[in-house]
Amino acid sequence: MSIQIKNNAYWVGKVDWELRKFHGDEYSTHRGTTYNSYLIKEEKVALIDTVWSPFSKEFISNLEKEIKLKDIDYVIATHAEVDHSGALAELMNHIPDKPIYCTANGIKSLKGHFHKDWNFHPVKTGDKLSLGKKELIFIEAPMLHWPDTMFCYLTGDNILFSSDAFGQHLATDLLFNDLVDWHELFEECIKYYANILTPFSNAVDKKIKEFVSLNLPLDIICASHGVIWRNNPKQIVEKYLQWANNYKENQVAILYDTMWNGTRVMAENIAKGIKDKDGPLTVKLFNVSSADKNDVVTEVFKSKGIVVGSPTINRGILSRVAGILEEIRGLGFKGKKAASFGCYGWSGESAKMINDLLKKAGFKIMDEGIKVLWRPDGDAINKCINYGKQLADYFKRIDE
Ligand code: FEO
Repeated sequence: MSIQIKNNAYWVGKVDWELRKFHGDEYSTHRGTTYNSYLIKEEKVALIDTVWSPFSKEFISNLEKEIKLKDIDYVIATHAEVDHSGALAELMNHIPDKPIYCTANGIKSLKGHFHKDWNFHPVKTGDKLSLGKKELIFIEAPMLHWPDTMFCYLTGDNILFSSDAFGQHLATDLLFNDLVDWHELFEECIKYYANILTPFSNAVDKKIKEFVSLNLPLDIICASHGVIWRNNPKQIVEKYLQWANNYKENQVAILYDTMWNGTRVMAENIAKGIKDKDGPLTVKLFNVSSADKNDVVTEVFKSKGIVVGSPTINRGILSRVAGILEEIRGLGFKGKKAASFGCYGWSGESAKMINDLLKKAGFKIMDEGIKVLWRPDGDAINKCINYGKQLADYFKRIDE
């Protein structure tokens, strides 16, 4: 099934309603996803990207209903990750000599994945490919989010094909941003940015400004996942500019795990202290052993500060807390503050260890953290509440 986007540009991708885990087990996709492939039938015919390999045969079969494969003149690969290039191998079995246009890094990645010496044509920013009256303009977009990524722009129809940028994991039969539930769409967009694009925020900011400086009219953005932005496509570009620049809301996230509820009681009373001191500050608590990791990362992204807690175990911290801190380190958040806490019975290293990990992750730390011997009682609970009040002040200050 194809869906017309504008004039001779069509969506020929796959909606994956079942997908719940992406990148192995690394990214939760509560709402499935789509793998967007686009067919442009001008005097010359171009196919932009394919779909994930399990859907190769279905993709080819559907594509054959739209066009004879031999009538495809150009294959464009904006990104070599196999959710977009997976069906390329099956496609090239049918049309082995057709040219594939991608970046030089794209050639390396595609050869690395498929070990085939297809008819590659490397492109650079500003290169053009004529489709007849219209043309495709290529724009390299390294690290949005892989070194090989590129955008391409269809003149005449003013469509930007943006690869993974501006995408989101949202299975939908509606396909266009003005038709889907805005709240669901926005949730998936910010989750996608927080979990996938945060480390590349400098590149995002620079690339958007570069694209704007080209003064190309922009009517539609076709990303590689989720909806097509045909209604006010600049709204997602503006969101990306906000998100790429040390984004934070008036929010604090408390992340913890607990063995016998002592650290949970600390978490809840620290939260109480923050609220008592500063009502308008939203405080969200996540037990990281049960909360979805990617949802937690999204809330960290939205927060001006985080408070992380673990009881001490084996002179260290609980493995789920260690895991989320490693995830946070890798994402390279900037401009955020943090503090630590935890119960203990013997040695009590957890708060210091968490602080060390938070420092390595680039967070500014308020102090040495707070620890409570055994299960918190009245005095310890008051100590946690007071600590929360100090944190409210610390997170509010913007001069540090
Ligand atoms: Fe959707 Fe980076 O692949």
